Amino acid sequence: MIILAPSILAADFNKLGEQIGIVETAGAEYLHIDVMDGNYVPSISFGMPVIASIRKNSKLIFDVHLMIDEPMQYLEAFKEAGADIITVHAEACKHLHRTIMKIKELGLQAGVALNPSTPLNVLEYVLKELDMVLIMSVNPGFGGQTFIPEALQKIRDLKETKLETRATFDIEVDGGVNLSNTVELLAAGANVIVAGTAIFSGDIKENFTQIKKIIAEFEKQNNR
Ligand code: DX5
Ligand code: ZN
Repeated sequence: MIILAPSILAADFNKLGEQIGIVETAGAEYLHIDVMDGNYVPSISFGMPVIASIRKNSKLIFDVHLMIDEPMQYLEAFKEAGADIITVHAEACKHLHRTIMKIKELGLQAGVALNPSTPLNVLEYVLKELDMVLIMSVNPGFGGQTFIPEALQKIRDLKETKLETRATFDIEVDGGVNLSNTVELLAAGANVIVAGTAIFSGDIKENFTQIKKIIAEFEKQNNR
């Protein structure tokens, strides 16, 4: 199953509820929510109060991407705020295994994100615990950056490991995704596609529908 996850980082925060409503009505299943602490990444976005507030009006699966140092201490608070999936950065956790287990103990889905320069093998001994691996195709911290093409091979390699180990984790890709690289990413093996700028700049419904169409066509041709 292939999922398109709109990233609200690119939304107009003055109309946040309304814009989430547009993607929800258009058929989104996930909402990608980028939390930045100004420490792990250079920028600061938003935190629990914003998530709790949008939770009240949305039934979407909240895919919370924590770009924060030592996320362990905040996991419960993000669950309380309404997270369904919590993804932490491997590079930001002193004790990655412990952090993953804590997310699972909370009854949430656990994901780990890898920066463009981080090799896949840092996940070797935790892979079987994961619901999702997030391959960053930009350096985290900002929306609207240019896709780093090396992410494609990384996704292919991860897909191969997934098949070899008969694992079930989702492969998510995040950063610089647009109408022109979606098919390549799907063909490489990604099945959760994050898009911020490509969805929220301009006609949101139209942008969402266009990418969804590409996904539907790919699914039809590849029986996925
Ligand atoms: C980047 C964030 C992304 C971002 C993607 O640090 O993790 O989720 O919102 O934005 P676009 O799709 O504009 O590259
Ligand atoms: Zn993200």
